[in-house]
Amino acid sequence: MRFVTHSAGMAVVCLLSTPALATSTGITGQSGKDGLTCNSCHSGGTAPTVEFTGPTTLAPGATGQFSFIIRGGPAKTGGVDLAVNQSDAVLQPGPGTKKLGAELAHSEPKAFTGNELRFDFSLVAPARDVTLTIFGAGNSADGDRDSSGDRAASTRLQVVVGNGTPDPTTPDDEPEEEPRGGCSTTGSSSVWALALAGAFWLPRRRRS
Ligand code: HEC
Repeated sequence: MRFVTHSAGMAVVCLLSTPALATSTGITGQSGKDGLTCNSCHSGGTAPTVEFTGPTTLAPGATGQFSFIIRGGPAKTGGVDLAVNQSDAVLQPGPGTKKLGAELAHSEPKAFTGNELRFDFSLVAPARDVTLTIFGAGNSADGDRDSSGDRAASTRLQVVVGNGTPDPTTPDDEPEEEPRGGCSTTGSSSVWALALAGAFWLPRRRRS
């Protein structure tokens, strides 16, 4: 019973602390990578449009400069959550963002410039061939320091590192198979010829 009371208590603490964690000072797990965005809590405003800019190809181990841009919506202040789907790709914060676990989030609500809010960041590519995806959700807020009257949108950007993720069924493999099959056919027929010759030879030798 003590355990049950204790877990119930913990659950209440977690529920209460969620809004406290999900403050205007940045939140993770809401980039759209796992299906969630800031709209889990924020609502009321008109939706902004969001866009990534930056290279869609990188050499293995290279660093790329990217921006995540929010346009429209309530457009007073805003924030962001950025994530990448390869654990050996490293996101590096730029002005107005900070590293939170493996993700990047805004440090505090950042003011729009006109109709636009831009977050610059960089990404260090893994030192191998892989195709990765960067996920981003941007919230366009009305600046009243609560979660109403705001709205987020999310998008993603695919980056091909080196030759990209190797395709397990490359057609290149097939031409190699054929000559090998041809050789082994002739190879096995001569083995059969020897085996047959041996079959005639062995019983005759035993009889003599
Ligand atoms: C679990 C609920 C929750 C989620 C998810 C959440 N927020 Fe919030 N956010 C809040 C609450 C509550 C406030 C108001 C209290 C405060 O300022 O911290 C807030 C305030 C803000 C503000 C200031 C709003 C204003 O009108 O002044 C910004 C900007 C913001 N959040 C950005 C984000 C971004 C970006 C995301 C998604 C990546 C996000 N939030 C996801 C709960 C959430």
